[in-house]
Amino acid sequence: PDRDHLVACLPKCELHIHIEGSLEPEMVFALARRNHIRLPWDSVEALRRAYAFGSLQDFLDVYYVGMSVLVTEHDFYDLALAYLRRAHADNVVHVEMFFDPQGHTSRGIAFDTVVNGLSRACTQAREELGIRASLIMCVLRHLDEADAQRTLDAALAHRDRIVGVGLDSSEKGNPPEKFARVFARARDAGFSLFAHAGEEGPPDYVWQALDVLGVARVDHGNRALEDDVLVARLARDRVPLTVCPLSNLRLRVVDDLRHHPLRHMMEKGLAVTVNSDDPAYFGGYVNDNFSAVARALDLSASDIVALARSSFTAAMMTDAERAAAL
Ligand code: HPA
Ligand code: ZN
Repeated sequence: PDRDHLVACLPKCELHIHIEGSLEPEMVFALARRNHIRLPWDSVEALRRAYAFGSLQDFLDVYYVGMSVLVTEHDFYDLALAYLRRAHADNVVHVEMFFDPQGHTSRGIAFDTVVNGLSRACTQAREELGIRASLIMCVLRHLDEADAQRTLDAALAHRDRIVGVGLDSSEKGNPPEKFARVFARARDAGFSLFAHAGEEGPPDYVWQALDVLGVARVDHGNRALEDDVLVARLARDRVPLTVCPLSNLRLRVVDDLRHHPLRHMMEKGLAVTVNSDDPAYFGGYVNDNFSAVARALDLSASDIVALARSSFTAAMMTDAERAAAL
């Protein structure tokens, strides 16, 4: 009520959103029809019923099939514009948007098709809505290093339209160090660096994200709390964690939102932000994530304001851009 009103009114940045994870079931079916693609589900309702996940991998299995309806530049444009309109309605003023090029190039879609469509939506949304949006290319960690290197080669041709490189997909068994050389090259090319770590994987993967890859932020990072030395390091260096409460609930990273570690993270001085991850799959956009976790943890108004403010500190913005956005 009051809390939800405050959440809705606050300007915020979204720093952990996979654009393919904003593909709503209705759009999956509309694009399947437009592109003559057969789906393993016969209705929107059947697809929604598939959204009962026991783990990250259960989700990823559905996520990669869902994104297979994206074929043309127009599809990527429609997807990103729909998300940016929805984010704007939540008072999001700045978005750093992940996309998974290998989820598309592996199906024969050109890297250019993906980037052209997404970046055209970002430009248009900036002009029409005033929302700022940039693109972060993620490397799929379940694939090999050579595939990642080829993807980075493709990204270099679009250096002006991609601000960063991240790491996502199946975490367990795919430690950050697997991509040490890819991230070193990305750093040399001037990309900002990010990695999912400590969602299902151990604290050691968070250490590797920091010390081997040299990331500017850790995506999720929940399991960092198991290691006090790591927590001290994250707090000391003010390394932002992009936390995603509804994702954590739906992927069983937490068993109940009342047990979500967000409050502990704040109390330990960690630079936490609240984000939606894959809003079409996990039951809510960014304000839904703020409201749900605030209710479950009984966060105060000043906690909520601190979380929204933290999203600006954690964003890849200059001080001038931050001042202009606020
Ligand atoms: N974790 C790992 N990979 C992902 C996620 C996630 O939460 N969402 C989309 N790809
Ligand atoms: Zn994610």
